[in-house]
Order: sequence, then C-alpha cells, then structure tokens
Amino acid sequence: MHLITSKSLDSRRRFLFQLAATGAFFTVRGLYAEALTLTPRLTEGPYFPDKLPLDQDNDLIRVTNDITPAVGTVTNVGGRVLDRGGAPVKGALVELWQADDRGCYIHSRGEQRGQKRDPHFQGYGKFETASDGGWRFRTVKPGLYTGRTRHFHFGVTLPGQRRFTTQLMFAGEPGNARDMVLNEVRDAAQRASIIREFKADPATRELAGTWDIVMGATAGDERRERGPGGPPPKGRPPGGERRPPPA
Ligand SMILES: [Fe+2]
Repeated sequence: MHLITSKSLDSRRRFLFQLAATGAFFTVRGLYAEALTLTPRLTEGPYFPDKLPLDQDNDLIRVTNDITPAVGTVTNVGGRVLDRGGAPVKGALVELWQADDRGCYIHSRGEQRGQKRDPHFQGYGKFETASDGGWRFRTVKPGLYTGRTRHFHFGVTLPGQRRFTTQLMFAGEPGNARDMVLNEVRDAAQRASIIREFKADPATRELAGTWDIVMGATAGDERRERGPGGPPPKGRPPGGERRPPPA
C-alpha cells in the first residue's frame, strides 16, 4: 500500500506549484480535453425527410399505433452528446434518419430501384438530451443502397445553434474501405470515431452499439450548416452522397 505522508504531500504541492508557475498545469488540463476526438461533420446527404413523419419519437420500428413492426434486424443505438471538454450537453436535439431494411428512405425520392419502402418503418426520429447528455434510438439495421456503405445519418442541434450533421458507420462492413463519405475524413482518429461495432444479444438477436457525439463546431462551421427548416446554405459543396437511380 502506498502511504501518503506529510513529506509526499509537500512534494506534491511543490510539484503542482511548479507546474502552475510554468503554465504547464494548464497544458496538462488541455491534454485531457484534447484526448476527446471531435466528431467530424459529414454531409447531410440528399435524403433528410422532405416531409417529416407524424410520429417522430425515438422508436423507429413502430409507427404510431401500427401493430406491425418494421422489417429488419432490431438495432439499439445510443450514447451521449459531449462538449469538447467531455461535459454532457443538456437540451441537444439529436435526430436520426436512415434507410430501411430495403435501402429506402422516407424521402419522396428515397426509394431504391425495384424496391418499395417499408410502410411500417418510421425512417426518422428525434430525442432531446437531459442533463446526462444521453440519447438512444430503437431502430433497424440500415439497408444498403447503391454507392454507400451501411450508415446512419445524425443531426445534433445545440440550443440556439444550427444543425450539425454527421454519420455513423458499422464496423466490419466491406463497403467501408471504398465509401467516399467515410474516406473524406482524413484524420484517422476522427474516421475511427464514426465506425462502431454493433453486437448481437445472444438471447434476443437484437444489435446494440454505443456512440458518443463530441461537439466541437466553430461559429464559422455553424454558419455553413443548415438549421432545422432553414434555407439551404449558399455555396455549399455538393453532397458526397450519390442518389440511387430513380425507381
Ligand atoms: Fe444516406
């Protein structure tokens, strides 16, 4: 056992004083903040619902009072919204939109060639964080469609700010290596931060994955992003997401 003696306390105080005196103390604090990888901003893509569903809760596999659940592998995804210092963010609006099991979105042009959208899938949901910063959704594993790896779309809107958009990919997907949205993230740590493993519960077969969204957007970034219901930004580069051929 390590005993804290008055001598060791004295030397610790002396060490902290020296750190503070040289400014190194604040550098150490800064190092902890830097240890969090900021979630990269990624394209909103073409399929944010052009008409939001009436049911917008965080259970996407059941639409209002419909007793038939969505087709697909039930997937639970959740985590926290954190600021760049690691503190949970309260009052953040987290939005999820994604393809159904057949690769179709609820967008009016979101059906894949030869596929019909699953009418029992909500396609979009939202959740507002409490003081713990936590959010969660119950949904299905997103289906694949032409030109993209498997992914969720997320929007995070902090109080008084505009929507930050990003995406979450699945570990082990063959399409990850050639996905242009994923690979436009040059920083290796940031790229790894948006790929998560989803594990199956042996009893229920449901998938579950966790993901913390670390917000570090600057004011300049915010101005370039579209807010909920706001006008599209001017001069924005074309989205890095291909539309599938018309159905
Ligand atoms: Fe997409």
